[in-house]
Amino acid sequence: MDRDFWLEKWRINQIGFHEGTPNSLLTAHFAALRLKPGSRVFVPLCGKTRDLSWLRAQGFSVVGIDLSRKAIEQFFDEENISSVIAQCGRLERFDAGTVTLFAGDFFDLDAETLGPVAAIYDRAALIALPPPIRDRYAAHLVALTHAAPQLLVTLEYGQALQSGPPFSVPESDVHALYDTTYRLHEAKRRDVPGGLKGRCPAQEVAWLLAP
Ligand SMILES: C[S@@+](CC[C@H](N)C(=O)[O-])C[C@H]1O[C@@H](n2cnc3c(N)ncnc32)[C@H](O)[C@@H]1O
Repeated sequence: MDRDFWLEKWRINQIGFHEGTPNSLLTAHFAALRLKPGSRVFVPLCGKTRDLSWLRAQGFSVVGIDLSRKAIEQFFDEENISSVIAQCGRLERFDAGTVTLFAGDFFDLDAETLGPVAAIYDRAALIALPPPIRDRYAAHLVALTHAAPQLLVTLEYGQALQSGPPFSVPESDVHALYDTTYRLHEAKRRDVPGGLKGRCPAQEVAWLLAP
């Protein structure tokens, strides 16, 4: 999955991954991270997810990044928020008080540009990436955030039955990626109603990752 794949998805508005309401695994399990009010939460590969607004409504500030400038613009338009835009190296930074979104490549973001964060919320970020890139993604995420705790939502299904994205990231892969950094706890496992795209059985898993 290269940049052009995702930019084209946004260009033609083929964004079936976008949920119109806050993700129910987020709303059920985020409190388990026990963050202080006002904490800053990082949402990698954020698209224009409504989860950003839910987190803000809980009193957190949010910082996200997505390759697609269109996604970032649509988030601010749809939420009726005006932002101040600045160039930040290879990234563009859209700032609006308790929400800061970067347009650009996650791998171009550094810890200083990101700033301190207390937690990570990963929904449809890790599972959007093909296996060869996942090691690099996980290592960069840990380095950027100094191993901030995470709520991670993954998907499991028979990869032979269906090609990604989204990719299946089985329990063994989550352990292989994060065991050296975090203690992992499977908070919830549930069937995806109707299976993945109606084609094969699938389960969603909410993981809590604590340093
Ligand atoms: C499956 S979507 C999930 C979006 C969002 N997390 C959600 O739940 O709606 C994956 C997103 O990752 C973005 N993306 C893919 N590769 C990226 C990269 N290297 N840097 C930043 N964003 C990337 C895509 O543009 C896309 O919006």
